[in-house]
Amino acid sequence: MNGLQLIATGGALPERTVTNEDLSRMVDTSDEWITTRTGIRTRHYCGDAENAATLAISAARQALERSGLAPEDIACCVCATLSAPDATPSVACQVQRALHLPEGCPALDVNAACSGFVYGAAVARGLLATLGGAYALVIGCEALSRLIDPADRSTCVLFGDGAGAAVFALSDEDAPFAVTLGARGDDAIHAGGPDRKGSAPITMDGKAVFRFAVDALPRSLNKILQETGLTLDDLDWVVCHQANSRIIDHCVKHLNADASKFYKNMDRHGNTSAASIPVALNELAETGKLKPGQKVACVGFGGGLTWGGILFGYKGD
Ligand code: ACO
Repeated sequence: MNGLQLIATGGALPERTVTNEDLSRMVDTSDEWITTRTGIRTRHYCGDAENAATLAISAARQALERSGLAPEDIACCVCATLSAPDATPSVACQVQRALHLPEGCPALDVNAACSGFVYGAAVARGLLATLGGAYALVIGCEALSRLIDPADRSTCVLFGDGAGAAVFALSDEDAPFAVTLGARGDDAIHAGGPDRKGSAPITMDGKAVFRFAVDALPRSLNKILQETGLTLDDLDWVVCHQANSRIIDHCVKHLNADASKFYKNMDRHGNTSAASIPVALNELAETGKLKPGQKVACVGFGGGLTWGGILFGYKGD
């Protein structure tokens, strides 16, 4: 069982959308600045009754339904988030309860910021290999609108809320698998926790993070390609963390790659941190662009600083 297959996906986005025009009425910014610097046009913000856990439950329910599996088939549940509504129970445990996943199913949250989904999928695969079981539920969910300073134009225009979920299977079939993960303790991106008492908005050294990202992204992608003996031509899709369109463009150019393989949706969702990769996977699957048998690489980079890449096949639901 050396391969990893994506079986099914799900997604959940808050109904409320916030456009660049909306933000330009709140801070000194413009649609033109945001679009040209980031590629972002709109993002979703949670309403009062929504949070990272409610979105995670909706996305996970959809992925499980589409997989055709029963709750008792799920052998572990891993949720990537940096904006969980509660310190405990974890979002993963809240998903377990809502979806009636079996009692023996380990459920835990992983915080690796924007690399969280890649870390979460790697942890889930490790759990399947160690504890046994065929299927893992991996979720990325965020309510970053709760962590931004709405008066800070350098960050409030970047982030949005959402959740994506994926059911993965260990596989002996013709499914590839490779993973790379890394971290370098650095507070170039920072968001405070309970010790910060009250307001704890995200702060970011944008230029330093940009430099880090355009190095970490191609390095992670090349590492997982080398490990599998595959080339970029063998991949059908590359799903990168959706922080900024220019970061992806920079890497496509550097790698001399086919830009059409690098999926982008930050125009509609902004940067949803751990949710951005599974939301993108779900869109690819829902629109039929992701086809059974295709090979996918996902690459995350962000707060921590953290980075990671994972390569797998798509079975389809
Ligand atoms: N509207 C208008 N002007 C703005 C805005 C805004 N929203 N924000 C900043 N500016 C101004 C600045 O004040 C500055 O003005 P000045 O030259 O008069 O001082 C000017 O625009 C340029 O600002 P920079 O910060 O230098 O802009 P830059 O081109 O670097 O773009 C950005 C900023 C988009 C944040 C970019 O650095 C970036 O994308 N960085 C990477 C972010 C990222 O990848 N994050 C991922 C991880 S996040 C996570 O893990 C939680």
